[in-house]
Amino acid sequence: MSTKHPIAAVAVSNEVETGRAWLRKDAAPAARGSIAIDGAPIRIESLTKQYGSSKAVSGIDLDIHAGEFLSLLGPSGSGKTTLLMMLAGFEFPNEGSITLGGIDITRMAPNKRNIGMVFQRYALFPHMTVRQNIAYPLKMRKVPKAEIPDRVERALSMVQLSGYGDRMPSQLSGGQQQRVAVARALVFEPPVLLMDEPLSALDKKMRERMQIEIKQLQQRLGVTVVYVTHDQEEALTMSDRIAVMGNGCIQQVGTALELYERPATPFVADFIGKMNFIPSTCVAIDDDGVTARVSGNAVFKVPRHQVRSATLPSVGDRLDLAVRPERTQIRAGNVQASGIAGIVEAKAYVGAFQWLIVRLADGTVVHVQSQCGGAAGNIEERSAVDLTFHTAAVQAFRGD
Ligand SMILES: Nc1ncnc2c1ncn2[C@@H]1O[C@H](COP(=O)(O)OP(=O)(O)OP(=O)(O)O)[C@@H](O)[C@H]1O
Ligand SMILES: [Mg+2]
Repeated sequence: MSTKHPIAAVAVSNEVETGRAWLRKDAAPAARGSIAIDGAPIRIESLTKQYGSSKAVSGIDLDIHAGEFLSLLGPSGSGKTTLLMMLAGFEFPNEGSITLGGIDITRMAPNKRNIGMVFQRYALFPHMTVRQNIAYPLKMRKVPKAEIPDRVERALSMVQLSGYGDRMPSQLSGGQQQRVAVARALVFEPPVLLMDEPLSALDKKMRERMQIEIKQLQQRLGVTVVYVTHDQEEALTMSDRIAVMGNGCIQQVGTALELYERPATPFVADFIGKMNFIPSTCVAIDDDGVTARVSGNAVFKVPRHQVRSATLPSVGDRLDLAVRPERTQIRAGNVQASGIAGIVEAKAYVGAFQWLIVRLADGTVVHVQSQCGGAAGNIEERSAVDLTFHTAAVQAFRGD
């Protein structure tokens, strides 16, 4: 998008005088020795952004709490950046509204919102020193000159880069450059920090280190963070809550545990961790739940609260039984009458556990993750096996 520009992101004007400290350009300077931030809540209602005939963001409702770390997680093209750009003010929605701390900012220019932003690629000004980069948003906001050096030093120390102020960006590692970008986005003490895949250009080790650093910094400061990523591990590690996006919509919002244990849709089930979907037919319904028949006529009972559907299915309906690979038990031979028979197609050791790929009689492929040395230890490729799972491990989705 042509409108993604770092200068605009940090250029906060002094024209808006709302009475809210966090929307004022001249918000009270931080207490000496630290950066002081009051995280603000964000309310997004019915937000829609259309490009031509396609909706990049489609009717999103989302409440982000003050001081929360919320990630937008979803595959490429799911609308994450578009939503973030509307929060930043670089894009305006076709419909819907955004409020920040109760104030409608839907159509407010980016330079009038007091929001910090960090982009995917290091967006530092290459011709300025680290210190000048961090001072930039303060100058733009006409912070008194005498205050600037002190605030820049505090921001540098916040990201553990004291002593690096005179370097040029080209003299820093990728991780250090992103820390400078974080310092520059927070130096004016915004109540909200938006980050769009800020670590994706870093190698794995540095990325993991920065994940922890950013999370600790956010917790210490209490700033509200909206963090875009398509890396589920990153979202699970860092977030208080995750909004899973698909096709311009929020599919589900929840903690990592909620999304993993109780995914609302097959999309979420498949996107957070790995999930097997075993096709079945509903053969009976009672007050407690549904009974489903799978490949080889094995029958499973799924309690009502584990059927992810607003209405109970009818007899004859297709149901997909979702079960995680690590909750699928495997035994050699056809030993259990209640199990599903299959053949091991492949087996691989991955450190502490092993993966087995099992094909059922109806052609369905099931992945099994099993502890090394466990029951699956002696199972060979091409051998006949029997799969079972605990009732609590299974969820049923309506098939289509
Ligand atoms: N300026 C634009 N003009 C037209 N279509 C756009 C524009 N910006 C985004 N889109 C479309 O909107 C959809 C959502 O794009 P967006 O950049 O928000 O996705 P994303 O989730 O951030 O993806 P990625 O993970 O690849 O960054 C895509 O189909 C994209 O092609
Ligand atoms: Mg994007």
